[in-house]
Amino acid sequence: MERTLPFRWEPAESTLYLLDQRRLPQEEVWLPLNSAADTARAIKDMVVRGAPAIGVTAAYGMVLAHIAAEDLDQAEGLLAQSRPTAVNLYYALARMRPLKGNLEGSLKEAREIWREVEETELAISKNGARVLKGQVLTHCNTGPIATGGYGTALGAIIEAYRQGRIEHVWVDETRPYLQGARLTTWELQKAAVPATLISDNMAAHFMKLGEVDQVMVGVDRMASNGDFANKIGTYGLAVLAQQHGIPFYPALPLSSVDSKLANGGAIPIEERSPEEVTTIRGVAIAPEGFPARHPAFDVTPHRLITGIVTEKGIHYPPFDEGLRNALAES
Ligand code: MRU
Repeated sequence: MERTLPFRWEPAESTLYLLDQRRLPQEEVWLPLNSAADTARAIKDMVVRGAPAIGVTAAYGMVLAHIAAEDLDQAEGLLAQSRPTAVNLYYALARMRPLKGNLEGSLKEAREIWREVEETELAISKNGARVLKGQVLTHCNTGPIATGGYGTALGAIIEAYRQGRIEHVWVDETRPYLQGARLTTWELQKAAVPATLISDNMAAHFMKLGEVDQVMVGVDRMASNGDFANKIGTYGLAVLAQQHGIPFYPALPLSSVDSKLANGGAIPIEERSPEEVTTIRGVAIAPEGFPARHPAFDVTPHRLITGIVTEKGIHYPPFDEGLRNALAES
């Protein structure tokens, strides 16, 4: 099956093309980028989103900064400010930093970051599939277009279906930006995995009916103790899963672990425009000017996690020790 990637690099044009995720599932439009400034704007505006995909895009943004003769420190600053929560962005920029001024080296490093991301996703998918059975519920979008091209939580879910371990996926629509309704559905349809879309407030109902065997989600940033930030609504799902005795697994590359943070309390939470809550694709659903809030992520405490899936395996409590050992191995 042909993979759909979130980006492609065209060497002949020295151009980075992003699949414009704002226009999915209706249209597949590729947006050409030729500078770091444009790349930073594209990340901020959600042309590309998902922690690993943002990281790889930012690495290519630094390549474009060389080609467009932009100020390299300023370019890095713009990219670093584009979105604050996913740590993969900072991981990629730190990897690109020593190559400032070296176009060929930058290009090689960006390609290498992408290759490593792909490799880790294949391992995460295989590891995550091992714990899945029956029916799995997922939130937001963690598939090929959120990542380097294979997926994390959704990669594991697709792999589990291929292995005959699961028969059905519940897809949370993921208000307010609707990554589940627009993107996860689109990816599962392409992968021919049986799935049903539900609005976020239906999850508890299906859990109570015994129709959810486990929950698997992605991660934007995980602290050393296992607390993690992910798409708003993840914390609520973890609480519901615990109430119903349903295993709850975050799946992530180890590059999403921020080992400087002892717990999730210091993870910066992006606050996006309230208009993303009061409107849907430009159509108002609330009275004009009505106050709204849009924290784009929440933090799930590690005590609600059953196991953490990474490229190194599945880590069970105590998570701090498991993550430390896995990071030391990688
Ligand atoms: O705001 P988004 O769409 O970038 O948020 C994405 C998520 O929260 C994903 O679950 C996370 O980045 C993991 S992607 C493999």
